[in-house]
Amino acid sequence: MIKVEGLKMIYKVHKKEPGFVGSMKSLVNRKFEIVEALKNVDLEIESGEVIGLIGPNGAGKTTFLKILSGLLNPTEGKVSVGGYVPFDRKREFRKMISLVMGQKSQLIWEISAMETFNVNKAIYEVNKSDFEQRLNELIDVLDVRKCLNLPVRQLSLGERMKMEIIASLLHFPKVLFLDEPTIGLDLKSQVTMRNFIKYYVEKTNTTVIITSHYMEDIKALCDRLVVINKGIIVFNGNFKQLPGFDSDHKYISVKTNNETIERVREFALDIETTKDSYKIKVPNLALNKVMVELGSSENVSDLTVENRPIEEIIMDILSERSNTQNDKVSGVF
Ligand SMILES: Nc1ncnc2c1ncn2[C@@H]1O[C@H](COP(=O)(O)OP(=O)(O)OP(=O)(O)O)[C@@H](O)[C@H]1O
Ligand SMILES: [Mg+2]
Repeated sequence: MIKVEGLKMIYKVHKKEPGFVGSMKSLVNRKFEIVEALKNVDLEIESGEVIGLIGPNGAGKTTFLKILSGLLNPTEGKVSVGGYVPFDRKREFRKMISLVMGQKSQLIWEISAMETFNVNKAIYEVNKSDFEQRLNELIDVLDVRKCLNLPVRQLSLGERMKMEIIASLLHFPKVLFLDEPTIGLDLKSQVTMRNFIKYYVEKTNTTVIITSHYMEDIKALCDRLVVINKGIIVFNGNFKQLPGFDSDHKYISVKTNNETIERVREFALDIETTKDSYKIKVPNLALNKVMVELGSSENVSDLTVENRPIEEIIMDILSERSNTQNDKVSGVF
């Protein structure tokens, strides 16, 4: 569905010295600064896949999604989305995709969301019955019927984001780009949005690329993870392929007392303590013994066994040290 080869994006930023004199000088002698936002990106995405695109601020995520949506013309490389070159912005292409940006509203502040929905209906040529059926379903699932006719400026951020996502789905896009759809939302609204996206993609088989700085979004929604750093893809695979995800040790989180912990201390590689909770790093070979020991204690509650936290692995991948190591194991990256 999506194929990207040798993609490069260079922004040319006009550089001006400060003050009036600087402005005058720059009129005569224009200086530019080059920002290499994407450097040689290759990526293929099958129809129906849900991809989590993650990376630190300035990594190139938004730039990438803007190129795939046809808003930016790449400096170099081949891009194909559903068989179209996005920057040609053909009518059929625009009907096929949607981009939602958590940082930027597509709704108009002074009018109601319903009015924008009607405009989108006309732009995308959605027929009346499809439009009404879909709209009713979406507003019920997201529970926003009461906000439909209020000016957008009166909506809370959570309500507005729900409207943004409805606006983006009314024309049944086959490909959906979600750029930080949960940014700034409170925990409850984040969960609502996440659950909705999950429900939607499972129901419709839409191809999705989602960026988020909240790993919970990525863990809950994505089949595949693409990690980008400084314009380069440094990991592309599923969670199980993350280096160290299924490593030779596990973490046992347990609520218990010190006496019980002392009984397993000899097997532990490390023990972190917070109040009455302990996080024990245990080699896989000793896991059984530790579990039996903890299981036989009457003072144990809330026991969970986890792999190495994904956040930690990602931090490793993003660190310079790990990047050079990753270059060597090119089979995985
Ligand atoms: N319009 C622009 N003009 C010049 N430089 C830009 C422009 N847009 C982005 N950049 C630069 O390109 C790089 C990538 O930016 P981009 O917005 O794609 O990052 P991002 O991964 O989306 O970051 P964030 O997590 O903060 O949203 C950054 O160095 C940024 O400063
Ligand atoms: Mg961004």
